[in-house]
Amino acid sequence: MDSHSLKALAHVDLFSGLDDDELSSVAQLVHPMHVERDEQIFAAGDHADAAYVISRGKVNIVITSPDGKELILAVLGEGQIFGEMGLLEAAPRSAAVVAATSVELLSISRADFERLLDRHPRIARKLLTVISQRLRRANAKMESLAYMDVAGRLARYFLDLARDHGQRLGNGWVVIRRPTHSEIAHSIGTSRETVSRVINDFEQRFGMANQGRFTYIREDLLK
Ligand code: CMP
Repeated sequence: MDSHSLKALAHVDLFSGLDDDELSSVAQLVHPMHVERDEQIFAAGDHADAAYVISRGKVNIVITSPDGKELILAVLGEGQIFGEMGLLEAAPRSAAVVAATSVELLSISRADFERLLDRHPRIARKLLTVISQRLRRANAKMESLAYMDVAGRLARYFLDLARDHGQRLGNGWVVIRRPTHSEIAHSIGTSRETVSRVINDFEQRFGMANQGRFTYIREDLLK
């Protein structure tokens, strides 16, 4: 395993409590894998035989309605794990996973994943925390899809993005790299045209500005 992958492993929340020896024993179990942007890593309903840790890039967790509409349930990035549900439940994949950028992954087989959880209660506990955080986020998403109009959903989407991935510029503004309008639409359950219209409206009325792929948001809105 190369040094980048080993370093990536040390940054995985799940493995953060492990000492160097334990970390290198985990490193023996993982297999590096490269996926190009827009490639599907697996489909909903596929047989689950591995879990994956993201060492570089981002993936979209996607479900598709019978008439072909996509909903992005979550975007996962560096240091995060996916594919654990199929292993823990011994069930088919609950959603498709698609590379949102070009992605470097570390895969771990079902047998090795189970052995890791059996041998390291600390990893098992961390995994419970991760799953609990995802449930909390999923609840918040359900709340916004059920109770908010598109403007409310879009405002919450940008605020979450700014809190999670924004860079504070020190002059009262936070900058984020804006996903495409189509990706945003798929995340908040609306059309691309509506996203473009509401973003325009936000620019006129609130503390938000767009320049190319970047969006600037006033820091005081994040409080
Ligand atoms: P699995 O069901 O094996 O395959 C799809 C994966 O997407 C799933 O495991 C989780 O890792 C991930 N996933 C599914 N739903 C969510 C969600 N709501 N938030 C974050 N990740 C999810």
